[in-house]
Amino acid sequence: MIEIGNIRLQSPLFLAAGCAKHPDGARKILASPSAALVVGSVTAAPFGVDDGDILWCDGARSVTGYGFPNAGMDVWEPDLADLAAAAREAGKPLVVNVAGSDVDDYLRLSERAFAAGAAVVEFNLGWPCLLSPRLVRHAFSDDPAAVADLLRGAAARFAGKGGELWLKFSPMQPTVLEGMVSAIDANGDAPVTAVVCCAPYPKTLFLEPDGGSVVGSDSFGQMGGEVLRPIALGQVRQFRAMLPAHIAVIGLGGVSIRDHVDQYLAMGASAVGLTTAYQIGGAEIFDYLFGPEMAV
Ligand SMILES: Cc1cc2nc3c(=O)[nH]c(=O)nc-3n(C[C@H](O)[C@H](O)[C@H](O)COP(=O)(O)O)c2cc1C
Repeated sequence: MIEIGNIRLQSPLFLAAGCAKHPDGARKILASPSAALVVGSVTAAPFGVDDGDILWCDGARSVTGYGFPNAGMDVWEPDLADLAAAAREAGKPLVVNVAGSDVDDYLRLSERAFAAGAAVVEFNLGWPCLLSPRLVRHAFSDDPAAVADLLRGAAARFAGKGGELWLKFSPMQPTVLEGMVSAIDANGDAPVTAVVCCAPYPKTLFLEPDGGSVVGSDSFGQMGGEVLRPIALGQVRQFRAMLPAHIAVIGLGGVSIRDHVDQYLAMGASAVGLTTAYQIGGAEIFDYLFGPEMAV
């Protein structure tokens, strides 16, 4: 059994954000061996167009264009309480990943998620939107001062109330990463129990032979999968060396075989997530890649 804050995971492996974009997808995850139910990202208003054409993958690398199309919190909210109850019964924490446009937006979304029964709210601090520049004031992941603001607000709103926060970052330069650790240290009352790295790397261009982007004729893509793993392993090790022991580090990026899980655990991760491999292989990946011995 793995303990992160007050939650328990039956194994170190779970399906990360992007695997459940709808309540139906969440129910599939509950029935899978994933140690947690992570839903979202959820935004305040409906966002993006989920026409099924969001992921380009060559079997190892993944690029998403829209990033996180979702129906918005008004649509998710009625299902969250049921999902929370079902997750409790399945012995899996419900983690609601929220993507806000500013501090208040993150905090309001979190309040609604906790009120509906989420055990954990994961802040998606990676580049929140690549197609709608007006929505993007900044990526919190680029900006330790903005994260410090967010954590001050989170401390005021959530300290001592039982809900836990995970902070999900995109890959960062070492000095920015150190700035994030300082922001977390300086706001120790915020109930942060884990740092998750990494969200995809933003604004990449995978090009077709004709020069167009693989996710749309003129679209940047967010990069995950195999190419992210060495970067994410480095982020995990840096965070583990600098964060206080009560804050766990969760590794995410390019996990598709058991060795990858072991690498993250060896670099100091307490648990490991995956999205691309699930998008390719569905829940069967647990059977043929990880085997029953993953249960701890
Ligand atoms: C199709 C797809 C959708 C995703 N949607 C989200 C999302 O809504 N919110 C989020 O925080 N991360 C999202 N991610 C990022 C993943 O959670 C993860 O950080 C990243 O893809 C690296 O892990 P992987 O290599 O196992 O995919 C998405 C990834 C993919 C491939």
